[in-house]
Amino acid sequence: MENKSSYPIGVFDSGIGGLTVVKSLIQLLPNENIVYFGDTARVPYGPKSNAVVREYTRDDVNILLQHNVKMIVVACNTVSAVALDVVMQMSSIPVIGMIAPGAEFALKNSSSKQIGIIGTVATIQSKAYENTLLQLDSSVNCFAKACPLFVSLAEEGMFNHLATELIAKEYLTPLLQQKIDTLILGCTHYPLLKDAILKVTQGAVKLIDSGEAAALKVKEVLQQNNLLNENKDSPLLQLFVSDAPEKISKLCEQFLGRKPGAIRQIHI
Ligand code: DGL
Repeated sequence: MENKSSYPIGVFDSGIGGLTVVKSLIQLLPNENIVYFGDTARVPYGPKSNAVVREYTRDDVNILLQHNVKMIVVACNTVSAVALDVVMQMSSIPVIGMIAPGAEFALKNSSSKQIGIIGTVATIQSKAYENTLLQLDSSVNCFAKACPLFVSLAEEGMFNHLATELIAKEYLTPLLQQKIDTLILGCTHYPLLKDAILKVTQGAVKLIDSGEAAALKVKEVLQQNNLLNENKDSPLLQLFVSDAPEKISKLCEQFLGRKPGAIRQIHI
């Protein structure tokens, strides 16, 4: 049988935010080849209807499937929340979304079982995190809040800005009043705002990075399927976007934590 372990992992997102997930993947699985697609022509997905997100998801998956990927990682929390079934129906390769790994990791870290969830409007409205947490443990209490401004603040590079802290305080105070001990960062962009969030939560709350949790799950599933790439020869990270690759190099560097290399355009 053909050995697919050197085939790339396919990762997609509504834009470049999913590079935070790629960063976690590279840290944990440095030998893996990765193909990333960011739908920069149609970002953001968070404020859009489920029907539209599901339609865009089909296009994104078709692009990755053209690259012979061995697995699909749905880096976008919004897609993971409202269209994971679409991705799963489109191929027989393993699919990892952000919701189940993030929820499982949050449960492991929470002692009080008072868990906060933040994400885009679509992610929060879907109740995907709550439903998954409650399936895992019916005694959990969930407190969710959409934080749409966080996406723009992260893209503006306002990581340690006073304005970000003030907005974080506004969003997070109702959750802190519920005495949450764990907070799921349910959006690709939020890990970049960890410092501002920590200033507001003041060490009282454990922050759960869904991307980090998903990377652990990716490793586990690759191992189970005998798909881990053992070849250590300079793994390839290929980046594709649907619009304006020339404008986003700096932003990609911030999300990825290193220079991104060539970014190519695919017309959707
Ligand atoms: N990538 C999206 C997510 O993780 C955030 C940006 C958007 O709204 O498209 O939900």
